Amino acid sequence: MSEQDEILQLRADLHRHNHNYYVLNQPEISDQDFDYLMHRLQDLEALHPEMADPNSPTQRVGSDLSNEFETVKHLRPMLSLANTYNQQEVSEFVERVSEGLHGEPFQICCEMKFDGLSISLHYKDGKLLRAVTRGDGVQGDDVTENVRTIRTIPLVLPQGAGWPDEFEIRGEVLMPWSSFEKLNQERAVKGEQLFANPRNAASGTLKNKDPRVCAERHLDAYLYYLLGDNIPGESHYENMQLARQWGFKVSDAMTLADGVEDVLSFIQRWDEARHALPFATDGIVLKVNNLAQQRSLGLTAKSPRWAIAYKFQAEQVSTILREVTYQVGRTGVVTPVANMDPVQLAGTIVKRATLHNADVMTALDLHVGDAVLVEKGGEIIPKIVGVDESQITPQRGEPITFITHCPECGTLLMRNDEEAATFCPNDQCRPQILGRIEHFISRKAMNIDSLGPETVDKYFTDGLISNVADLYDLTLEKLCPPAVDLFGNPIFTTPSSKGKQEHLSQRNVLAGIEKSKEVPFERVLFALGIRFVGEIAAKTLARNFKSIDALRQATLDDLLQVNTIGVVIAQSLIRWFQDEKNILLLERLRKAGLQMELSEQELSEHTDRLLEQSIVISGVFQHHSRDEYKALIEKHGGKNVGSISAKTSFVLAGANMGPAKLEKAAKLGVRILSEDEFLAMIAE
Ligand code: IVH
Repeated sequence: MSEQDEILQLRADLHRHNHNYYVLNQPEISDQDFDYLMHRLQDLEALHPEMADPNSPTQRVGSDLSNEFETVKHLRPMLSLANTYNQQEVSEFVERVSEGLHGEPFQICCEMKFDGLSISLHYKDGKLLRAVTRGDGVQGDDVTENVRTIRTIPLVLPQGAGWPDEFEIRGEVLMPWSSFEKLNQERAVKGEQLFANPRNAASGTLKNKDPRVCAERHLDAYLYYLLGDNIPGESHYENMQLARQWGFKVSDAMTLADGVEDVLSFIQRWDEARHALPFATDGIVLKVNNLAQQRSLGLTAKSPRWAIAYKFQAEQVSTILREVTYQVGRTGVVTPVANMDPVQLAGTIVKRATLHNADVMTALDLHVGDAVLVEKGGEIIPKIVGVDESQITPQRGEPITFITHCPECGTLLMRNDEEAATFCPNDQCRPQILGRIEHFISRKAMNIDSLGPETVDKYFTDGLISNVADLYDLTLEKLCPPAVDLFGNPIFTTPSSKGKQEHLSQRNVLAGIEKSKEVPFERVLFALGIRFVGEIAAKTLARNFKSIDALRQATLDDLLQVNTIGVVIAQSLIRWFQDEKNILLLERLRKAGLQMELSEQELSEHTDRLLEQSIVISGVFQHHSRDEYKALIEKHGGKNVGSISAKTSFVLAGANMGPAKLEKAAKLGVRILSEDEFLAMIAE
């Protein structure tokens, strides 16, 4: 497939995965695989600017700019690198350089490609002045306070070491494997979501508003690029050795190559040796060493012609498949999971991998005892990519076929072809009941954080709850029943300290449940766990119908009138309201005091003034924060979008709007409104 065709294919796939995720609430692939495809598309689009399309899924991603930090312009744009994936492409790069230099001899500096996030450090008079993330390459987030907590970044440079008065040094902030594993263990204990890989963890940490969090998590930084008007060395390598003397952490792996053979042997050596490094790498970076030669080769729109990245192949190992087990989720969907002999893969031990659904599993044609190939890209979740054909013997084990009955309750499974899902139709199946309650209490729903999965399980087993409405009937007496004698008479004893503790924690549970009665209607709607009604759909429905009663009365047509509500969601809602059990549940929740409509305040704040308008926010604001502006846009019926396209209604621009965005808006004829103009518009 040509790269152009691959771009088209990736766009179609990513649109479908977006829909599965956001609309159907039913992802077919892991977040990590999604990110991988998105990165691949970004890389290919960077290589083929002629194929730019404002409707590409990459245009939704925007930059890594966050709302929390001040946005500042880079002294010089931060370019990215073009990627190569095989020896052939590396050789072509070397040839291109040679042609570009008209046959002049040159050296290539080979170095690790650190898998973290890039940072630009600005030093003046030997002191760290400012640290800025890459952002969109033109402007980034000022994360100086967080960067100051990274011990390996010098705040003050040693006197007399020969550094220029003013310079910029760029590098990668990363989280070493040891810190990453420790952090995830701590998060697992606290029941918090785990970071998928050290890159996400480093990024989440560097963009945490509280520098103490950053300090605790032990980030590290390697520097790999020196820029400025008075840079001492004539070559990149020389400059990096000097930077090391000034106190910066520069990789020892950096090596000069005289030709393509040297480059390829460096790649080969590190493809293996990188696994012993204490941090994650995802490739090798090749840079023409001499600065004059770099200048003469110049830049393309996105990346320098004098440098390129080589990305390592995803790692693959072979291990034995022992059995496939099945997990039943809250909506009844049954997911097959491969259980394998434990095997070391890219730094972790792997023994389980999701097989997604019956189609994916069947396509792999698995047999018990097969040697299977397990792969892991830059990510943490492994996947089975196929059977190791070279190891298939005539005495192959039993073929694995998808189960016909629910492993939990024995009900005959059904299949929904549209979603390629197999599900258990018995909504009283244990994991479904527990899953619904767990979803109901989760943070983005009712946020009853005094309850966790184990307590829910215990209450269910003890017969205290079997649906979400039962939570509101719980009392201290039910949770801490008095001890009784053989005849059922209460025994009065002085409570032990353990008993008192228990009492206290149950009181805490009840307080959490009580507090959830204040949770706004849109989150109650999400908490009900109606299929396909995710967080965003629930918000949209709440804004449009304003109460559960109005939503219940809505016909399919009424529902479809709402922008972004499609047939799948609409039909699912109609079906849900047709079920008598759900109506009874709603009535009990209403009686318990849950919010079944928008509050007076929410009602009065909402208007249709920005209905159907897609709005991009950019720059730094005076009167409100970016988040407040986003909320205002939603309150008035508008939609926040990440990047400017022909469909953008207008840009709400604060100070320092990036030149790239300005140019794009001008080119597409998109209006730019100031803060004051915008506020006047919604106050009309
Ligand atoms: S040099 C103009 N060197 O890879 C050259 N980048 O797309 C700029 N990276 O954004 C980058 N290790 O975050 C360079 N040794 C290395 C690197 C490296 C990792 C990252 C960097 C950049 C991306 C390239």
